[in-house]
Amino acid sequence: MNRSADIHFNSDGVPVSNHFDDIYFSVDSGIDESEYVFLQQNGLPDAFKSLPSHYEFVVTETGFGTGLNFLLCWQAFIEHAPRDCRLVFVSFEKFPLSREQLEQAYEALPSLRALCEQLLAVYPAGDEGCHRLLLADGRVTLDLWVGDIEQQLPHFVTQAQGQVDRWFLDGFAPTKNPQMWQSFLFSAMAATAHQGTRYATFTAAGVVKRGLQGAGFTVAKVKGFGRKRDMLCGAFEATDAPQKAALKTEPVAIIGGGIAAACLSLALQRRGVNVTVTSRGVTDAASGNPQGAVYPLLHAEKTPLSQFYLHAFSTAVSAYLPWREQHWFPTGVLQPAFNEQRQQRFEKVAAGLYDPQTVSLQPAGDTAAGLEIGTTALHYARAGWLRPATMVKELFNKADINVDISDRPQVDMQQKTVIAAGHCSGDIVAALSGQKLSINPVRGQITQVEATDATASLKQVLCYKGYMVPADNGLHCIGATFNRGDDSSDIRADDDSENLASLKDCAQQPWANDLTIISQRASVRATTPNHQPMIGRVQDNLYVFSGLGSRGLTAAPLLAEILAAQLSGGLQPLATDALERLQPR
Ligand SMILES: Cc1cc2nc3c(=O)[nH]c(=O)nc-3n(C[C@H](O)[C@H](O)[C@H](O)COP(=O)(O)OP(=O)(O)OC[C@H]3O[C@@H](n4cnc5c(N)ncnc54)[C@H](O)[C@@H]3O)c2cc1C
Ligand SMILES: C[S@@+](CC[C@H](N)C(=O)[O-])C[C@H]1O[C@@H](n2cnc3c(N)ncnc32)[C@H](O)[C@@H]1O
Repeated sequence: MNRSADIHFNSDGVPVSNHFDDIYFSVDSGIDESEYVFLQQNGLPDAFKSLPSHYEFVVTETGFGTGLNFLLCWQAFIEHAPRDCRLVFVSFEKFPLSREQLEQAYEALPSLRALCEQLLAVYPAGDEGCHRLLLADGRVTLDLWVGDIEQQLPHFVTQAQGQVDRWFLDGFAPTKNPQMWQSFLFSAMAATAHQGTRYATFTAAGVVKRGLQGAGFTVAKVKGFGRKRDMLCGAFEATDAPQKAALKTEPVAIIGGGIAAACLSLALQRRGVNVTVTSRGVTDAASGNPQGAVYPLLHAEKTPLSQFYLHAFSTAVSAYLPWREQHWFPTGVLQPAFNEQRQQRFEKVAAGLYDPQTVSLQPAGDTAAGLEIGTTALHYARAGWLRPATMVKELFNKADINVDISDRPQVDMQQKTVIAAGHCSGDIVAALSGQKLSINPVRGQITQVEATDATASLKQVLCYKGYMVPADNGLHCIGATFNRGDDSSDIRADDDSENLASLKDCAQQPWANDLTIISQRASVRATTPNHQPMIGRVQDNLYVFSGLGSRGLTAAPLLAEILAAQLSGGLQPLATDALERLQPR
């Protein structure tokens, strides 16, 4: 479903909602108004200056719109908060602006250009649910919950009890948008507030005032911005209000040297947790391929797995952004419909189930691939390919981790330990706890071939039964075989033949013939019966991060955020049922 915003731009370049007949920000003083109403009347940025060590400051907003409030809050946080604190800005949006609409809106905000560009680079498509975006080197996190706030808020409330520091009550005026200003909102505010939580809103409507008072908030009417007479602000003063819990920063040991361990190390390091990592090697297993595809797995029906990967993909795009054009190449991914059955399925996928900015149908004859592919194809415009082997090392470096090399790591069960050992995780967990997890090995081999004059012009990743990645230093990675139950990493000539035959059969193009093999690499995936990754607590102090299957490069950054939140406290960026499906079993 495409539910992007129905807006026009007025003669001052300010976006106006046709649906609500209201403007997104004030024409001549949008920034000043937002700073006055949402920051100043919420005690910001003053409160940022005196945050305790490693504090996760949570702001929740109703109505993301252009993100102006977010951009200003981000700017103030970076300027005033201690270096080791993080801002988690949560916002709900039913009608997300498209990237093009945002770009146009930002023309009216030249002083915020640098932040606007960073946000645009990771801005997700408008698919429903929580998109966690990592910005400003991980100091600022945006959890953008797409969908009607009344439906999305309950998912957030279960994760956020006692955690929200500030509420920004935006959304259009209660007279124009009464649906948003109802008791569900005020109860959610109370359920997520702690002692000292504050809020501010531009409106002084009686319905809002009464709702806030009824939920346990004080209500002060203060002078509104500019010509506006008054607005409301206040604090949570319920007698049984909880204290906000500090993040737990006791040390965590991780076993593993792949993308899971690397992403988790960085996520924990950003939360002030001291991490040690021990592994048989670094990028010695599945995460050591020279190239890999990063794109969401989308079914022709809305499935929990597709939902998970939509959100994981958003986080991955933001997590890898600092390495764009170094080790992360968002070239786009094409899935050609090489047969009739696929053609029908792909038409369903592109028929409105997902935002067209996530996936669309590219007609046969389109030249965007750079190579003749001869059929229609699904096009994932924001997807691309990664150099996993170098990315893992970059992530460990960024987290300041030196991996201890050992294949018999000592595990101290007095300390929190995460087993992120790919397909070996099940055996390690069983040895430590006696618990048997359903993690199954699936062997795979990739084949590197020399780029030819024809294939060198491939611009996007081609994904069919296997995949072919644009040439990197004259070599294409062609993947990958898939042998269930096989956990060996020996090199097999038959597997190279299978990879090349699969490309040839699917492509049916002259450029796919007679490719010269240069090298190959075999390793083992870790899969689970429900195809979902597996993360979380197995028993006291023992956690697992495995089951990343064939999509670990897309899934790992979001999973690391979730597991880091489970280990240290803080907000988990996923609906409760989605978290439940990731539980170790
Ligand atoms: C051929 C192939 C192609 C793939 N292509 C893609 C792709 O294009 N896109 C994509 O997203 N995904 C792809 N995948 C999947 C992806 O590679 C994995 O999901 C991901 O790398 C898993 O990362 P990990 O960190 O969980 O495990 P791994 O990378 O397997 O790391 C496990 C680590 O644990 C360590 N370890 C294991 N046992 C022990 C022990 N007893 N003691 C100490 N250390 C131990 C290992 O040494 C290793 O460092 C592919 C996988 C294969 C096999
Ligand atoms: C005034 S705009 C918000 C401005 C925004 N905070 C900014 O900084 O640009 C109000 C937003 O609330 C969104 N909205 C309205 N009703 C909603 C609902 N029921 N659920 C979620 N979002 C809603 C609108 O689509 C719009 O983007």
